[in-house]
Amino acid sequence: MERVVVVTGAAQGIGFAIAEAFVKQGDFVAIADLNYEAAVKAAATLSNAKGYFLDVTSEDSVKAFYNELFDDKGTVDVVVNNAGLQFISSVEEFPIEKWHLLVDVMMTGPFLMSKYALPEMKRKKFGRIIHISSAHGKMPDKYKSAYCAAKYGVLGLSAVTALETAQDGITVNAVLPGPVRTELIERQLPKLAEKDGTTIEEALNHHILGKQWMKRLLEPEEVSATVVFLASKEAAAITGEQIGVTGGI
Ligand SMILES: NC(=O)c1ccc[n+]([C@@H]2O[C@H](COP(=O)([O-])OP(=O)(O)OC[C@H]3O[C@@H](n4cnc5c(N)ncnc54)[C@H](O)[C@@H]3O)[C@@H](O)[C@H]2O)c1
Repeated sequence: MERVVVVTGAAQGIGFAIAEAFVKQGDFVAIADLNYEAAVKAAATLSNAKGYFLDVTSEDSVKAFYNELFDDKGTVDVVVNNAGLQFISSVEEFPIEKWHLLVDVMMTGPFLMSKYALPEMKRKKFGRIIHISSAHGKMPDKYKSAYCAAKYGVLGLSAVTALETAQDGITVNAVLPGPVRTELIERQLPKLAEKDGTTIEEALNHHILGKQWMKRLLEPEEVSATVVFLASKEAAAITGEQIGVTGGI
């Protein structure tokens, strides 16, 4: 039976691969993204998806999004909190607006998306919430203070939500990807190289692949398979967990 799946930040990258994987197995996916035009375009390439505008940092936008989704589909079964972004700077130079933006998108956003999905999930006694954290949810890297703070923080949110909903047919888990071939990685390389005074190749090896055992960027589809599994019936007893898809770190 078709489920109603929300994937935030799904206009591209890992989120789009997750949306594609859910549609392939027969679900409807709401591609909910700050970039509305890209969300609509991405949804048009899938057989059972719709693009929605969503700014996960705004409570009003989150409420308006769920109202629109409930008007369209009547319910929500799965929420994947995937929207994210990176900003590279040392702590002493980190602009406060960027700090707030990263924490708002990757920690407060998942909180708001969970808060407004849970009443419907509790009513129907079924729900799956999956947070896309990062290997940087457990491991620091230079110049990524806000990113690491948000990615460590969302693991706390995930565990508490799992505990609060454990007897309601709802599971809440976090997936911690290693380096994945997307724009998020491509955009940060020049800045990392500039900070360290190295080439882009050296920055890739030092910051991104240096600590990873497989020494390769992962493909978005390698992350989406785990997300789809966590949302499945077979994963009903898995909650409050943190699952790395890292290539070894
Ligand atoms: N790429 C990696 O190596 C990697 C590794 C670990 C974790 N992650 C995490 O995976 C997730 C997806 O990353 P990606 O590499 O696909 O990034 P990406 O930059 O390719 O895509 C991110 C998407 O999030 C959307 N977005 C940004 N702010 C938003 C907001 N306020 N509201 C709604 N949507 C918003 C963007 O418009 C974009 O479509 C992020 O949470 C990221 O931190 C990525």
